[in-house]
Amino acid sequence: MVGLTSVLLLVGAASLAAAAPTELNIRQSGASTTSPPWYPAPKGGTAASWATAYAKAQALVLQMTLLEKVNITTGTGWAMGPCVGNTGPVPRLGFPSLCLHDGPLGVRFADKITSWPAGITIGGTWNKELFHARGVGLGSEFRAKGVHIALGPAMGPLGRMPAAGRNWEGFGSDPYLQGIASAEHIKGIQSQGVVATAKHYIANEQEHFRQGPGAISSNIDDRTLHEVYLWPFQDSVKAGVGAVMCSYNRVNNSAACQNSYLQNGILKDELGFQGFIMSDWLAQMSGVASVLAGMDMTMPGDGLLRTFGQN
Ligand SMILES: *[C@@H]1O[C@H](CO)[C@@H](O)[C@H](O)[C@H]1NC(C)=O
Ligand SMILES: *[C@@H]1O[C@H](CO)[C@@H](O)[C@H](O)[C@H]1NC(C)=O
Repeated sequence: MVGLTSVLLLVGAASLAAAAPTELNIRQSGASTTSPPWYPAPKGGTAASWATAYAKAQALVLQMTLLEKVNITTGTGWAMGPCVGNTGPVPRLGFPSLCLHDGPLGVRFADKITSWPAGITIGGTWNKELFHARGVGLGSEFRAKGVHIALGPAMGPLGRMPAAGRNWEGFGSDPYLQGIASAEHIKGIQSQGVVATAKHYIANEQEHFRQGPGAISSNIDDRTLHEVYLWPFQDSVKAGVGAVMCSYNRVNNSAACQNSYLQNGILKDELGFQGFIMSDWLAQMSGVASVLAGMDMTMPGDGLLRTFGQN
């Protein structure tokens, strides 16, 4: 009898042990969480401060063929041009290849530049003048090296995971601090005639399983998204940031670079972002779907596969 009870208890315990993690996993992974659709992508040009830029851009783009429009929104020759991202030019209209280059802490792959203190270090000063001065310094070096679009500052990851690989590129886990520091950096960089990039949009909180069709999904409710992760991006949009980079991870099980609710809805409609969204390098998971969902430029381009040396 005792033996049978023990066996039953053991079996019971074993099935509990087997059941508990499964339920826990479903809850934690939020496998059924979805992101609502938000179409169409809103047209830019609604903010007065961008009116001149939009008028100039429209006059130019009106003259372009489809092929030329594709050229200026697609990267080409990863690791073969001067920058980590290089768009195709439009020689007929004298529009150059754009040079997009890393990173949040200084000019990557270059000599005679400054290795600036990490974001987390300068964030610790809580000093707006220093944030701005570092942005001006970074911007002037990007400008001097011929970079059109600097791939920083980083404000996501915010730092939810202490062991996440890139927390130190940002300014700290307080959304308010991260927002003010990002905005000052953006103003500093853009004062030098270089476009800044707010990245990585959004909830790019870990490096582990960060990439590919099976990438980690950050499932977040609306209030947490707004009060914590979106906050610094909101400050960046207010500061007039020219570019945003969508991230590798999925959000509510939809790839960040083809999540229409995040790109068309929150960033472009709700925050009124007037610039362009580029993919993180190889973060684009589909063709037309990403474009309709609000992504504007594909990086590093040349298809969806890593093809060093032959692209
Ligand atoms: C994610 O799902 C939650 C729960 O349904 C919802 O509150 C939130 O708005 C969604 N966010 C996105 C970006 O889809
Ligand atoms: C597109 O860019 C390539 C370089 O990547 C250039 O050779 C080509 O002339 C451009 N095409 C058009 C139609 O301007």
